[in-house]
Amino acid sequence: MYTNLLTELKGSNFWISINRADKMNALNIDTLREIKLAVMEANANAEVRVIFLTGIGQKAFAAGADIAEFASFGVAEGTKMAADGHAVMNSIEQSPKPVIALVNGFTLGGGCELAMSCHVRIASENARFGQPEVNLGLIPGYGGTQRLCQIIGKGKALELLLSGDAIKADQALALGLVNQVVPIENLYEAGEVFASKLNSKSPVAISRVIECVNAGYAFDQDGFQKEIDAFGESFGTEDFKEGTQAFLQKRTADFKGK
Ligand code: COA
Repeated sequence: MYTNLLTELKGSNFWISINRADKMNALNIDTLREIKLAVMEANANAEVRVIFLTGIGQKAFAAGADIAEFASFGVAEGTKMAADGHAVMNSIEQSPKPVIALVNGFTLGGGCELAMSCHVRIASENARFGQPEVNLGLIPGYGGTQRLCQIIGKGKALELLLSGDAIKADQALALGLVNQVVPIENLYEAGEVFASKLNSKSPVAISRVIECVNAGYAFDQDGFQKEIDAFGESFGTEDFKEGTQAFLQKRTADFKGK
């Protein structure tokens, strides 16, 4: 079904793997389009609770946008490329089901922007992060100038954006760019362990947390008001009744996501 991705449903986790290992999983336009479709597919499947995004192989999560593809672009094509890329990243960030990036090597340029659009990032020890676009006479075009500041703060973000330097996984952890660093052979397992925590929670509550957090970073929304509304609406859900009853009855909640 997908040309540049491998997808698989394992239990309640939907795996999306970028499958261009010979090109360091570089994100050509088709691959980005397919990632958006795969995230939509996962969100439409009621069995799915968590979405994993990773790269095939042990060298790269994604080494950026496909330089060979865009090298001949002009201004109009460049603008369209960025606008389309932003739409892909937004669709991941706004996914009601949590998207976990399992970062397995070079995570540069658009690859770093892709990882930053995910809700959680778990990295292998060999992962390298950076926004090297300035080396190409470019700037990040898939949200990197914004999300890097949001995640690690303006000062360090400017250092990375201006220098184009790549940082190692332990530095990314210290900056809060990733949530966890593990040996590469444990990467999938670490993702599954984290996902199993999320799988036991209320899917409605999980999606509302994502919505409220995103609202705080959207200039046309009031995140605090969003939280008041979403908190109130939670009282009308079956998951709320189940969660509170389970607590009072001293049993494990069985959330249906309704
Ligand atoms: N776009 C297109 N092709 C890419 C790519 C990208 N962003 N990154 C790597 N590739 C390709 C290489 O051209 C090469 O293809 P080839 O075998 O047909 O020549 C293949 O992937 C392997 O890459 P190579 O450079 O030989 O591997 P390496 O281990 O020596 O270096 C990197 C790995 C990631 C450091 C290096 O490939 C690199 O700097 N990539 C570009 C990073 C970048 O600037 N990203 C931002 C783009 S906006």
